[in-house]
Amino acid sequence: MVTHSVAVIGGDGIGPEVTSAALEVVAALGVQLETTEFDLGATRYLRDGFVLDNATLESLRSFDAIMLGAIGPAIGDTRIPGGTLERGLLLKMRFGLDLYINYRPFFGVTGSLAAGRDFAIVRENTEGPYAGEGGTLRYGTPNEVATQGSVNTRFGVERCVRYAFERANARSVKKVTLVHKTNVLTFAGDLWSRVVAEVSSEYPQVEVEYNHVDAACIYLVEQPERYSIIVTDNLFGDILSDLAGSVTGGIGYAASANLNPARTGASLFEPVHGAAHDIAGQGRANPLAAISSAALMLEHLEEFTAATKLAQVVRDFEPGASALETRAVLDAIKGRL
Ligand code: IPM
Ligand code: MN
Repeated sequence: MVTHSVAVIGGDGIGPEVTSAALEVVAALGVQLETTEFDLGATRYLRDGFVLDNATLESLRSFDAIMLGAIGPAIGDTRIPGGTLERGLLLKMRFGLDLYINYRPFFGVTGSLAAGRDFAIVRENTEGPYAGEGGTLRYGTPNEVATQGSVNTRFGVERCVRYAFERANARSVKKVTLVHKTNVLTFAGDLWSRVVAEVSSEYPQVEVEYNHVDAACIYLVEQPERYSIIVTDNLFGDILSDLAGSVTGGIGYAASANLNPARTGASLFEPVHGAAHDIAGQGRANPLAAISSAALMLEHLEEFTAATKLAQVVRDFEPGASALETRAVLDAIKGRL
């Protein structure tokens, strides 16, 4: 049996407890992991000022996967300047390990606006406005200038779009929807549209649709059934995935995979939700998003039987009030494996 090496970054707040819940489920599936813990996040930063240096980034690269819980200080804690952990830790890993896909599947839980629906967002994860192009001029004066560019490369867009078509082709509903704002962001929009048209010619069986991002916000709420795979840029993908999480039952269920499909760096799996310090350590954190993220990790580790089983169990699971009890959810999931 293969043993997979996994770096575990529990992080802050409820991060460590949902991560250990996910690890417990993976063990129950009989998949062997050799885990190495990395103490990173807001708590670490507040203790000794460490965010993420290049040597630690390089040591993360060689793992088979990285599991991350949640990163961030408690709401209202202003000791960490905004962007320190976002850019210095999360984005540094995304860029440094070339995690160019952010794959976020959504399953509408009972009672949600999108109950029973099943779609995924393929978000480009290393370009767009997140690339950090821009600067300020005459800082703090009445004539201050701030620019923030959006980087869209042929290479980056194409590998993302290709991944989206591969995902769509493997699903029963073979459809890709490009979401952008081509009527205003004409340069980037034109590149994305042309790449989608070109790549789609290699996948004649996959239906292609285009939505402006503002219209997509309405459709996600009113007609979520129209989506199978949404492909979009980094910023639109960030915003749409919070909306998608909300209409499918809440961000507490949403999983995500930061993927390097070329495998030149370890892919990273994390729940979309944050650190929720207010309920940390009380056994009340919903572990389902971390467990779903572990299912995505198992798929990446090519543990296909375990991955498919776990994804199905999580999908069929009706949490009800037990979502408030980490242990109850965990035992219920394990009981169905
Ligand atoms: C996410 C988060 C991050 C993002 C933040 C924390 C930098 O919102 O993973 O969606 O914007 O990508
Ligand atoms: Mn986000």
